[in-house]
Amino acid sequence: MAQGFDLDNVDGLCRIDSTGMFAALEGLPAQCRSAYQDLAGQVELSEIEAISNVVVTGLGGSAIGGDLLRTYAAGRLSTPVIVNRDYVLPEFVGADTLVFAVSYSGNTEETLSAYGEARARGASIIVITAGGKLGEYAKRDGVPVIGVPGGISPRAATGFLFLPTLQVLQRLGMLPGVADEVNEMIGNIKELRKKLGPDAPERDNPAKGIARKLHNKIPVIWGTPGITGVVAQRWKGQVNENAKAPAYWNVLPELNHNEIVGFQFPLEILKRIHVILLRDGQDHPRVQKRFEITKKMIEDVVDGYTEVWALGEGILSRLYSLIYIGDYASVYLAALYGIDPGPVKAIDYLKKELQAGKDN
Ligand code: F6R
Repeated sequence: MAQGFDLDNVDGLCRIDSTGMFAALEGLPAQCRSAYQDLAGQVELSEIEAISNVVVTGLGGSAIGGDLLRTYAAGRLSTPVIVNRDYVLPEFVGADTLVFAVSYSGNTEETLSAYGEARARGASIIVITAGGKLGEYAKRDGVPVIGVPGGISPRAATGFLFLPTLQVLQRLGMLPGVADEVNEMIGNIKELRKKLGPDAPERDNPAKGIARKLHNKIPVIWGTPGITGVVAQRWKGQVNENAKAPAYWNVLPELNHNEIVGFQFPLEILKRIHVILLRDGQDHPRVQKRFEITKKMIEDVVDGYTEVWALGEGILSRLYSLIYIGDYASVYLAALYGIDPGPVKAIDYLKKELQAGKDN
């Protein structure tokens, strides 16, 4: 089988990367620092009170930050956090809901529609955007806006789109201090960057190694409801959008009750599947045991599996270490397919077709 691209050819990697995905990955620690320190510190929160639930509404790269918040908040916040990826909001949304309406471009129609619903229900709203119509509407309506820097892909802006939500909940007194965890996470990914970046040779670079294993295979990515489920979803999305390839995700223990039964037919397709097991030392011991049993059940059926362990102590470090490895791996996988990781023509086409015939 063709080896594809030389992943140690740094100039070649930069040449296929027209939108600066590598630069955005390199800049992630600085992005997280600025997102946490600068973006949400000034936003007006004085009118927000008596919040009983939090909804993050957005799509794609703008929604995943909501899942990160949901995951982070699960063990720390008594208030439920729900992620909404739709035109409409759940029925419970009302005056006691804090809605983060998140759209990097500010022009995603589902998010604009959900924003309108949140207004009509009298919810407290905070908009996170780099501009667009959402920015205009928020300004018109006097809704607080967290403005994020433009010019990168939404999926490369998770720091900008997620960390301000933590800062807001902290300022509202809903979350205890998270600054130490943010600092630990930034230090952790800075260290990791040395191993994952284009200059680190393939033989010592886990992200290049994973890309090589996923090349010409169908990635199936498994996490857990703890912290790695959201990462599995993120890896899947990054393989789709950066490498323009299919990928699928699920979580244990749920997949032990259905998906695992489906590893019998058709054998020729199962042989093309490479399973990524996202591991976290803090997962429930019974889930750890399930991983060990599940590995034995699939090892002779699929192409192979690779375990990737979360690094660090705090939830943020563990989450972002795995996200960083997956983000880099997806961009190297794009290189192996000889495709520019940046443009997402299929998404642009859908948005354009949906826009046709609409006035605004
Ligand atoms: C593109 C990307 C997409 C967008 C999605 C919503 O990089 O990641 O998943 O995030 O199409 O668009 P925005 O984020 O502008 O609301």
